[in-house]
Amino acid sequence: MLKKGCLNRRFCIQAVIVTFLFGCVVIYYCPMVLKQLSFYKSPYKTDTINLSHLMKQEFYQENCFQGDLELTLNRLHENLLKWSKAYHRKCQILWKKFHTIYRVNVREAKQSFPPPFLREVRHWLGDNDKLLKQVHNQKVIHVNNYYSLEQTVFNLLRSKRPSSETSEGTQEYVDKLDALTRRTCDFCRYKTNTADDIFGRIEGQYSVSASNTFKLEKWHSLFLSKKHSPVDLTEEEFLDLFNTSLKWFKKANSVDEESCYPMMIYDTLPKGGASQFHPHAHGFLASQYLSHMAVQQKAAITYKDENAGGYWNDLIEIHYALGLSVTLGDAVAISPLTPVREHEIIIFSNHPGTDLFRLFYYVIQTYYHKLERMCFSTGLAFPVMCSRSSSDSLPATIRIGTRGQCNSPINDVSSLELYVMQNVHVDPYIIIRDLQETVSKLGRTSSLGNEKMVRLSDD
Ligand SMILES: *[C@@H]1O[C@H](CO)[C@@H](O)[C@H](O)[C@H]1NC(C)=O
Ligand SMILES: *[C@@H]1O[C@H](CO)[C@@H](O)[C@H](O)[C@H]1NC(C)=O
Ligand SMILES: [Zn+2]
Repeated sequence: MLKKGCLNRRFCIQAVIVTFLFGCVVIYYCPMVLKQLSFYKSPYKTDTINLSHLMKQEFYQENCFQGDLELTLNRLHENLLKWSKAYHRKCQILWKKFHTIYRVNVREAKQSFPPPFLREVRHWLGDNDKLLKQVHNQKVIHVNNYYSLEQTVFNLLRSKRPSSETSEGTQEYVDKLDALTRRTCDFCRYKTNTADDIFGRIEGQYSVSASNTFKLEKWHSLFLSKKHSPVDLTEEEFLDLFNTSLKWFKKANSVDEESCYPMMIYDTLPKGGASQFHPHAHGFLASQYLSHMAVQQKAAITYKDENAGGYWNDLIEIHYALGLSVTLGDAVAISPLTPVREHEIIIFSNHPGTDLFRLFYYVIQTYYHKLERMCFSTGLAFPVMCSRSSSDSLPATIRIGTRGQCNSPINDVSSLELYVMQNVHVDPYIIIRDLQETVSKLGRTSSLGNEKMVRLSDD
């Protein structure tokens, strides 16, 4: 056989060896080369957020933190030290994930005070000697996220600084604004005083859509409640408002399939960035995730490429383990370690469903009733609506934070936040504790039955 195909025996042996070596090289390099070609990358959907991976809260407490998790950001460093010594494999893996995503840098700042000023500082701190000691030796905590490149600086002592609390209460201020705007409100007369989309309006029982007159995207509309005051919305009315927005996304996507990235913003009151008192959310249906949302999307993609796990599930488990989360059905809320604003919450779910929006509503009720913060800003992103792009979808995400005291003349955003880094001096554990209480109270008495939100995609 050999003789027939070969010119001579030596040549044949060489040919076999060369072919063999070549084969080895091909087999070795082929996957590497293919991996570099983008079409080889299997189109993956964003990792499904799967809350059933989570162990019981007590598990993390006991195994990761020696039964002594301290519920304040000021002790994050100490909590991490305990975590680093954990024996349980699951804790060790999660500890590694924490350090893959985050860097915590505690910077101690020292200073001295001339006696008259020291007296004043002591007065600010309510004559509390413990706090006064901390002023001399301040703990400035920087938290970085390596993937989103977000950085937040916490100095919880700053919340003790004298603030310009106004004499007028927040509720009083809101009532006045309500009365002042009601008579001339365009949104109360939406039929004649707002624009129509080319496909008309989407109308729900308590809400309606209107095309936004001056646009920021090709598809940019408003969702208006039929009530004038944002602080009076019931859970049912609030969900109806967002149900209307989901119907609008479906409608707009049906006439323009290329636009399939749904995003929203929702502000309240002038301090929150709202131009009108009347409750209104903005919806954008874009051809890609926009700016800040694209950063989040890219963080998740890079993380997935570099590590075995999914970014969102790991992020959620880290916060859950640290006692910085609340779950409701298929949605989970975390108080992020790199917040942009005070009392910040990010809510996740695989779909923009009832649980997601109910948690959203409970966050707002917590702001109103526990924290007396009526002004807040919100960004919402939903999964991509066209299958072609499902490889880079965000989960349904709602990110919300408060904007300081509503009637204070001081702006809560400065050059620091716009051009350098985020600065938060309210402990993220506060909003989580308050939200847990709200959810267990309102969640039980909710008037909502099994009503579902409109599904954006059919899967
Ligand atoms: C979620 O995780 C559980 C347990 O790890 C698994 O049994 C289940 O199939 C997962 N669900 C989804 C939707 O991936
Ligand atoms: C949302 O709208 C759909 C379709 O109109 C309706 O069946 C559903 O009950 C609504 N859900 C809520 C929570 O209002
Ligand atoms: Zn109105």
